[in-house]
Amino acid sequence: MERKKVTIPNILKLYEAGERITMLTAYDYPSAAIADQAGIDIILVGDSLGMVINGYKNTLPVTVEEIIYHTKAVARGTSYSLIVADMPFLSYQAGMHDALYNAGRLIKEGGAEAVKIEGGRNITDTIKSIVRVDIPVMGHIGLTPQSIHRMGGYKVQGKDEKSHNALIEDARALEDAGTFAIVLEGLPEQLAKEITSKLHVPTIGIGAGREVNGQVLVFHDLLGLGGNIQPTFVKQYAHLKETAVSAIEQYIKEVKAGVFPGPEHTYK
Ligand code: KIV
Repeated sequence: MERKKVTIPNILKLYEAGERITMLTAYDYPSAAIADQAGIDIILVGDSLGMVINGYKNTLPVTVEEIIYHTKAVARGTSYSLIVADMPFLSYQAGMHDALYNAGRLIKEGGAEAVKIEGGRNITDTIKSIVRVDIPVMGHIGLTPQSIHRMGGYKVQGKDEKSHNALIEDARALEDAGTFAIVLEGLPEQLAKEITSKLHVPTIGIGAGREVNGQVLVFHDLLGLGGNIQPTFVKQYAHLKETAVSAIEQYIKEVKAGVFPGPEHTYK
């Protein structure tokens, strides 16, 4: 059956209807096609691609060019899901012109339908100017990986009263700035619940518990294709790394033994 492409108004309708929103990262054509076929609402071309598929220690080295390259591949593999592309480090922090120009490039060259920006009250003027030119913006607060050096590592945020209250103010400011949804990453469940109850736009959690309007995971984590360290918030729905390793081991054995290729894999 032909499915209608997910749009921003569709996401808001899901929220208003109380239906949970699903989001998953994808960084290339086959992973996007798999997520799209499964019926994910939103595909995020996250700057996590720097760590997950390029092996960087953190997300800071990721460039606008890399996000555009991967977003183009994702767009080619997607016919259903809404595509959101991450604004990487230094693509929006150095000035409004950069922010507008780079957000526009992710839409115009990458084929994204919205952008995601990390930060709270410090970034709302930038978000307002991007929203003003009709580029939908998803916010992202809590454990914001681009702030790794300030945070001193990937740590749960909002645990003391001051940062708890600051995150509520950040979420309100992002809503006022016009974000259509906000990612809450690495927060105590109670704080995520409180933020969600105060907003009129959907919250999408990762490591933020159950009381949010949707969930996001990294493609490779969900499918068991990632590294050996799994954060508590990840649920592996498959163990594809093990499957892949044993398939390749079998291929090696068969080539060495002269079993592959067989007559059925051979041109006459
Ligand atoms: O880059 C990313 O994949 C993200 C999600 C984890 C929210 O920002």
